[in-house]
Amino acid sequence: MTAPLLDAEGLAFAYDGAIAVDGVSFEVGPGEAVALLGANGAGKSTTVKLIAGVLKPQRGRLWFDALDVTALPSHAVVERGVTLVPEGRLVFPRLSVIENLQMGAYARRAKANYASNLARVLALFPRLADRLSQAAGSMSGGEQQMVAIARGLMSDPRLLILDEPSLGLMPKAVNELFALIQTIRKSGVALILVEQNVFQALEVVDRGYVLEKGRVTLSGTGRQLLHNDKVRSSFLGLWTRGLDLSQSR
Ligand SMILES: Nc1ncnc2c1ncn2[C@@H]1O[C@H](COP(=O)(O)OP(=O)(O)OP(=O)(O)O)[C@@H](O)[C@H]1O
Ligand SMILES: [Mg+2]
Repeated sequence: MTAPLLDAEGLAFAYDGAIAVDGVSFEVGPGEAVALLGANGAGKSTTVKLIAGVLKPQRGRLWFDALDVTALPSHAVVERGVTLVPEGRLVFPRLSVIENLQMGAYARRAKANYASNLARVLALFPRLADRLSQAAGSMSGGEQQMVAIARGLMSDPRLLILDEPSLGLMPKAVNELFALIQTIRKSGVALILVEQNVFQALEVVDRGYVLEKGRVTLSGTGRQLLHNDKVRSSFLGLWTRGLDLSQSR
């Protein structure tokens, strides 16, 4: 077996004594796409913040590309190739699309390859290429999510982490987003996808993990989880609610 690109062992984190992540072990292979699933409050965002170095684990160890990155500051983690696109489509609303993309290219490696990264990213997002001078805040929800993901790709990541990218999007925008995720996958970037669109997510990933109360309670290939009774019964409700949410916008 090839060595994992990301190897997390027994990560734990509590906010002021309230346990959010309780011994999570997690692997992502080179170029592999992995889903992280779970109900609200299960610890998904905390887990990906630990992986991206935004929060530091209180227990456990984290290796990226065989290097112990447990104690590295988040900018150093980005420099090594891990990029988190956080929950909530955080674009800089007053900055133009191109300025938003430039903000994503602050890592040394990304600066060196700025022109080629920009060309690659704009080829993935032709709609953004037509609107480089538009204020990001004046774009639709789906387009802002594209800006947020494009900005993440400007750091030239080896592991891209998307935290709930489809949340609040209209069904059509969700489908476009999943098509885009497929394209990013095929380009060889490893992915962690946090999603409440469980069934769509499991169709595009290699493997998935289910978190409950800060612990991994189930893991397997996308196909195994898709057909798992527990996944189907636990998430069907969430999935339906997700559709309702997007239709009510
Ligand atoms: N900044 C914070 N301060 C205190 N508690 C927090 C903070 N962020 C998260 N928590 C708590 O930690 C637990 C895990 O939260 P987390 O955001 O990781 O869950 P999640 O799985 O991402 O949920 P969601 O699906 O709602 O985004 C929850 O009980 C939450 O209330
Ligand atoms: Mg979350």
